[in-house]
Amino acid sequence: PRVLILAGGLSHEREVSLRSGRRVAEALREAGCQVTVTDVDDQLLDTLRSGQIDVVWPLLHGVSGEDGAVRDVLELVGVPYVGSAPAACRLSWDKSVAKGIVQEAKLATPRFVALPHGIFRELGANRVLGSIVEKLGLPLVVKPARGGSALGASAVRDTAGLPRAMVDCFAYGDVAMVEQRVSGVEVAVTVLDTGSGPVALPPVEIVPDSGFYDYDARYIAGASEFFCPARLSAPALEAVKAAALTAHNAFGLRHVSRTDLIVDESGEPWFLEVNVAPGMTETSLLPLSIEAAGLSAPTVYRQLVERALV
Ligand code: DAL
Ligand code: MG
Repeated sequence: PRVLILAGGLSHEREVSLRSGRRVAEALREAGCQVTVTDVDDQLLDTLRSGQIDVVWPLLHGVSGEDGAVRDVLELVGVPYVGSAPAACRLSWDKSVAKGIVQEAKLATPRFVALPHGIFRELGANRVLGSIVEKLGLPLVVKPARGGSALGASAVRDTAGLPRAMVDCFAYGDVAMVEQRVSGVEVAVTVLDTGSGPVALPPVEIVPDSGFYDYDARYIAGASEFFCPARLSAPALEAVKAAALTAHNAFGLRHVSRTDLIVDESGEPWFLEVNVAPGMTETSLLPLSIEAAGLSAPTVYRQLVERALV
């Protein structure tokens, strides 16, 4: 099949997306597909309507890629694409909305508050910051409600660290999500559906050198250590896989997703978020779990493309 990969975009994760795009293009070519990689610009509609492509793979991370906007265009044009439909993307893209959905599905998720930027001006910063700590305690994680790759995200140990974390967060988005930092093992679970229903791949355990899985820990080779499968008990491994499948199904996701979770001391998984366009760079988690499952990335990516064409 002739595949059009969309990579780049204008989100903060543009560079990551370009890296994912290159990587997937190489793999698909290896698997015998004809691949074009393009950015999203005013030529896109012409390209989609040219009759020269069979299927699109939107590898855009962040805004417009993961919020469903570009996929709305693909739906309007009627071209098949790999991945989830716009409505499902919108639900998973906003982390505070997503938490509501997984709670309905009976998954645990850290307690949180979502704070629009304007509330600080309205109520005064001290009052807002004080009420966060009163409600959630410490330690905390602050991150943009809509964002990715940990941009604008930070861990907060004490009240003194909160203002700086909020400023960093609001540099990337206008709604902050502040959640309790659950201690435990950080894992990511890829769910694939290449035709016979969603299957969870071996969970990847993430051990960032710095203690926090930030942008550098994600994209500088060697800045984090990974274990796949995660070093968890057999029941805990099953529990995180089941949680990722529950999330995938609760949002109505399609073809591929990656759910990020913390497994606490008792082995219980806590949902953090689900990604509809998981990173596919050379340091990303999805390719790692494919390899650990004994699968080959070119084969799996081609299967996803063919699945989208059905
Ligand atoms: N947002 C990045 C690409 C990820 O989740 O892998
Ligand atoms: Mg994410």
